[in-house]
Amino acid sequence: MKATYKEQIMRVKIRQWNHNELVPPDMMDQLMTIEEVCFKPEIQESYESKRNLIEQADIVLFAYDGPNIIGEAYTATSAAGDMGEEGDPDAEHLKGLFELMDQEDAVYCMSLAVLPDYRGQGVAKQLLWDTIQKCKESRFNLLYSHAKVGPSAHLFGLLGGQCVEERENWCGTGDTYILFRIPLWPED
Ligand SMILES: CC(C)(COP(=O)(O)OP(=O)(O)OC[C@H]1O[C@@H](n2cnc3c(N)ncnc32)[C@H](O)[C@@H]1OP(=O)(O)O)[C@@H](O)C(=O)NCCC(=O)NCCS
Repeated sequence: MKATYKEQIMRVKIRQWNHNELVPPDMMDQLMTIEEVCFKPEIQESYESKRNLIEQADIVLFAYDGPNIIGEAYTATSAAGDMGEEGDPDAEHLKGLFELMDQEDAVYCMSLAVLPDYRGQGVAKQLLWDTIQKCKESRFNLLYSHAKVGPSAHLFGLLGGQCVEERENWCGTGDTYILFRIPLWPED
């Protein structure tokens, strides 16, 4: 039987990974499992690319059940990893977004993912909430992310995300993704 929301959150611990540290191979293996289970092949990062992304990311949060990583959220301020081929409209879109973000003091959520057995119990909400708080501590103005129409987009909307644009067949996945923008200081 699945744990209740409260039991799950008590069991799952969210910890920040010290970016710029080398990611050990056993941790990389766990992160590659998340990549393979949570994302379609068209948008899966390779081992090398994922390691670079984590090592260069600004804010990296992992959700743990005991010693096992069961969820991840990480952000970047510059393009890294497999951004797609030159001339590809989604790759161009990402390039333009990172240029804009630079002017806006913004950060991009590269990944928010939770293993299927742990879904629907608030783990992603907690990861995104904590990411927002860490972004504020780092004095960023905005958090951007692409989220698939469905639970992921619901979650970004729930935490103050405004829809900037919809992109059909994102990176050839056949899925529609929404570019969300979360103002980090809405009270100003
Ligand atoms: C999107 C994802 C991270 C959500 O993880 P999760 O831990 O299950 O999410 P939560 O339990 O925190 O739920 C967040 C909200 O989404 C809703 N939700 C979760 N699963 C849902 C589902 N299958 N259908 C509808 N709503 C759902 C929850 O009800 C909650 O909203 P509420 O507070 O209004 O009830 C997870 O499904 C996932 O890893 N998907 C694959 C990767 C992906 O698409 N990532 C996003 C793009 S980077």
